Amino acid sequence: MAENLIDEIKRRQLELLGHQRLYHAEDAPEISDETYDQLARELEGLEAQLDPQHPLKRQSPLGKVGANPQRGFATVAHERPMLSLANIAGQASVHQFGERLASQLELKGAQAQGLRYAVDLKFDGLALSLRYRAGRLVMAATRGDGTLGEDVTANVEAARIVPLKINENNILGNEFEVRGEVFMARSDFKQLNANQQARGEKTFANPRNAAAGTMRQLDSSVAALRPLRFFAYDLFIGPSALAQQPSTHSQQLDALKRAGFPVCDIRCAEASIDQVIAFIDRAETARSDLDFDIDGVVVKLESLTLQEQLGYLARTPRFAVAYKWPSEQAMTRLVAIECQVGRTGAVTPVARLEPVRVGGVLVTNATLHNEGEIARKDLWLGDTVWVRRAGDVIPEVVAAVPELRPKDAKRFVMPSHCPVCQGVLERPAEEAVWRCVSGFSCSAQRVQALLHFAHRRALNIEGLGERLAEQLVERGMVRHLADLYKLTEADLLRLDRMGLKLARKLLDEIADSRTASLARFIFGLGIRHVGEKTAKDLALFFGRFDALRQASLEQLTQAPDVGPVVAQSIQRFLSTPALLAELDLLLECMNLQNPASEQAQSSLVNGPPNLFFGKTVVLTGELQFYSREQAQAIIESLGGRVTGSVSKRTDLLLAGQNAGSKLDKANSLGVTVIDEESFLGAIPPTERDHE
Ligand code: IVH
Repeated sequence: MAENLIDEIKRRQLELLGHQRLYHAEDAPEISDETYDQLARELEGLEAQLDPQHPLKRQSPLGKVGANPQRGFATVAHERPMLSLANIAGQASVHQFGERLASQLELKGAQAQGLRYAVDLKFDGLALSLRYRAGRLVMAATRGDGTLGEDVTANVEAARIVPLKINENNILGNEFEVRGEVFMARSDFKQLNANQQARGEKTFANPRNAAAGTMRQLDSSVAALRPLRFFAYDLFIGPSALAQQPSTHSQQLDALKRAGFPVCDIRCAEASIDQVIAFIDRAETARSDLDFDIDGVVVKLESLTLQEQLGYLARTPRFAVAYKWPSEQAMTRLVAIECQVGRTGAVTPVARLEPVRVGGVLVTNATLHNEGEIARKDLWLGDTVWVRRAGDVIPEVVAAVPELRPKDAKRFVMPSHCPVCQGVLERPAEEAVWRCVSGFSCSAQRVQALLHFAHRRALNIEGLGERLAEQLVERGMVRHLADLYKLTEADLLRLDRMGLKLARKLLDEIADSRTASLARFIFGLGIRHVGEKTAKDLALFFGRFDALRQASLEQLTQAPDVGPVVAQSIQRFLSTPALLAELDLLLECMNLQNPASEQAQSSLVNGPPNLFFGKTVVLTGELQFYSREQAQAIIESLGGRVTGSVSKRTDLLLAGQNAGSKLDKANSLGVTVIDEESFLGAIPPTERDHE
């Protein structure tokens, strides 16, 4: 047993040491901070079972703060150790921290309540110690292992992120030390990565790695060119300084700011525990809007005297803690890339990831947008990747870690055919996205089309969600949108998780949708580039669906906000052969509410309103003045559509002499009938010249 424990501890110590080296010395961590903390806690638990004098305890990586200094830089001994902070999380832990301090200071009741705290943001970068003598920067060092750091003075000077010389009225005294964090702003980081990529050079996984990687460059001209920043968070001054020495942490930061050091203004001074908690909440909300990464806040006792009184443990001060949020970025494995087919046929590659917690949420998938994105990020199947999730943003694969690419990793190849219907994929030269052009005959598109059609802002069929749409399509119950209107109670009851009440409710919803407005119907069709607003504009402009259907490109572009791209998309949709039949079937089911027709017609710039605009007209009998062909041409030039047979959808029947069965049918269906004289009266003079 003991033997096993010793072996296990040795193995885990080595493992942790490896991760420490990767993080601190190579800026290339392979596990997330959470996983590291978890491993450290587990090792701590095992080591607790050892005799306190056991040699394994002395060599434990848990006792080391950072990594050993790197070769290449001179080593600097810190005047006072650069420590670490204990981590806490959750509101209760903040109260516990306050209670612990009060008890250690032997304060009770109002005195305990009276303790005041300073809260700073915890910047996600690299800690620096800056020593000044006679107003000049004489040494800049990284934390290293906490006792010995690396001399990065040349880089700090080159980066111009801190005052190299303090102005004449130096308030900080002859000798002082400033500590703070060097980091890179998110916007600068993006720009840097774009530049690196353009030059074919290595990109960085996150701003922290970019900042740390830059600081560790032996050639200081690199730091001179990279957009680094610095925030000071600690000050150690000699007795000769400031006439009035700061007595609190916040006063120290104020003094640093006056002396010309960058100090973050988002902080909280003289706070009670409740104010600390309120600040933490605000900071968490603001986190994703900041232009720099933070991974938490640092809560400290304000009073420097009380800080000294409390003192230090081996690696951490007693008077301060880091309140940490879950990291917004984590590492995981890219297991597979699958292609999803959307409503408009767009084929989107989606990353299937080994589940990983990012920003407190378990992430298993992330969109990869398109083929080009995968190539740009050089993602291979099997790669270790960084995944990011900031605020409410959908998870995103940031970058691969090429050093960890397994031998059997494979490049992703975009499929040549639709993964769902095996139909052809097309990609217009100017576009990044491949599309399946099978339309409604592709079941993936049918499900999405159905969902869009039923959407709250389209036909508003409540209860028709993803699971139901999938079942309806998979079981072949809905092959066309029109099939929705043929569903019966018995059909619905065959579906999973469907009871009588739900089925009836759904049928009512479907029935109600027949009388939707024209605008909702147009939107519900899911025509590419036709959003809710365009659909409304089109409905108002054309007044009737048929008018929209027959509109020429030119007429379409006369509608508000419709340019050539939208117009073409509408026309392509409305003239796709498979969709024509689909639409006819659907329109048979609908009883759309058209907007006030005068408004619609008068808005057409193309000539005055006329009887035929947007109408479906049937001709029958013998005409005296025109041939059938001439009459049809006139009606079409006025924006009408001529069809061969009379149905419910016929608006007008033009009946000449000796009209027969079509006239009877029109009368029985209540279709308006006009004779040739009314026809002549209804056509504008310019059209009459056809004679
Ligand atoms: S105070 C005893 N304030 O967090 C150390 N640290 O885990 C007192 N850090 O090494 C540090 N922002 O690199 C402090 N506002 C802040 C900080 C901060 C980031 C880092 C720093 C330190 C680590 C502590």
